[in-house]
Amino acid sequence: MVALNAVKAQNAALNTTLAPGLVAVFVGGTSGIALSTALALARHTVSPKIYLIGRSQPAADDAISTIKSINPSATPTFLKSDISLLKNVDTVCAEISAAENKLNLLFMTPGYLTWKGRDETAEGLDRKFVLHYYARMRFISKLLPLLTAAAQDPDPAGNRLSRVVSVLDPIVAVRLGGTGKLDYHDLSLKNTFTLGRCGAHASLMGDFFLEGLAQKHPQSSFVHAYPSGVNTGVLRDYPIAAAVMSVLARPFMVPIEESGERHLFAATSGRYPSQSEGKFEGDIAAGSDGTKGNGSYWVSWDGESFPANKKLDRIRSGGAVEKVASHTEEVFRAVCEEGKTYP
Ligand SMILES: NC(=O)c1ccc[n+]([C@@H]2O[C@H](COP(=O)([O-])OP(=O)(O)OC[C@H]3O[C@@H](n4cnc5c(N)ncnc54)[C@H](OP(=O)(O)O)[C@@H]3O)[C@@H](O)[C@H]2O)c1
Repeated sequence: MVALNAVKAQNAALNTTLAPGLVAVFVGGTSGIALSTALALARHTVSPKIYLIGRSQPAADDAISTIKSINPSATPTFLKSDISLLKNVDTVCAEISAAENKLNLLFMTPGYLTWKGRDETAEGLDRKFVLHYYARMRFISKLLPLLTAAAQDPDPAGNRLSRVVSVLDPIVAVRLGGTGKLDYHDLSLKNTFTLGRCGAHASLMGDFFLEGLAQKHPQSSFVHAYPSGVNTGVLRDYPIAAAVMSVLARPFMVPIEESGERHLFAATSGRYPSQSEGKFEGDIAAGSDGTKGNGSYWVSWDGESFPANKKLDRIRSGGAVEKVASHTEEVFRAVCEEGKTYP
């Protein structure tokens, strides 16, 4: 476990270890873990540019005034969008790309809890699955040029941090005896949707898509993080469940401010380097395939990489990286380039 005081000490030094003007995008930044991380970033850095993406204008107004009160040098911007449609993700990314020439951090948490079954969007995909997987991967695909530009910043005093953090759960498919299987005949779960399969597919597809990106884009690093239980807005539509959980799960809960500090650490620490940073010695986390410093990290709430798992290794050796990437590119081509519903 990375001790909380080590996390806090490293974060507190960011105002000197990072140059002013870091650019960060928080998808899902109006609430919960992403907002708490954005506030921690505002607390510890000089003149950060912070983009918050979500649907709620009142929540964004509150977030922006809190950021400005914590750090008057910060520049927060709200981009209001329902990103359960991939065409809206493209619009938001175009706005960011028009305004910025580099991006240091893409931090993503969008999602919601539901007991309902498949809820298909006009693009033919399940809404929750889009928020947990397709929209996140589309953000990365569209913003990779800016992330690469940050890694290659020619300014000797510039920030070369270039990192993606997706907060979900890298191992939910194999927890509690889960089979950890991907159904390659129906990756989007058009015909075989259950909430359980949706959770497993979103997690595993995120795992292996990010692992593939780290191989193809060695100048950026990619973290898939599990937050543990955090008392956020995620249960806002289920007040009774929220009350029960807050009692039963209290021993396992991470306080929201600690969660923000820990996720800021995941977003900025040299413990999770890109491949091209070439750090394989010292306090470097084990990568998703067990190799230190491979640029792709499956990280638990406490900053440690999850240990190797035979079921996940089997999925990898069955070609998951290539198959998931090829499916995801096919969805993006159909929905975003050709304007079709999928499939
Ligand atoms: N909290 C936990 O204990 C926990 C545990 C394990 C995993 N997770 C996962 O971690 C992630 C973050 O959770 P959290 O607790 O921080 O959740 P949260 O407080 O509910 O925040 C979710 C964010 O997603 C945004 N969002 C939802 N639907 C959207 C849409 N259609 N378009 C744009 N933005 C949308 C919300 O913004 P608007 O309302 O403004 O749209 C909000 O900012 C989730 O994926 C969750 O499943 C959480």
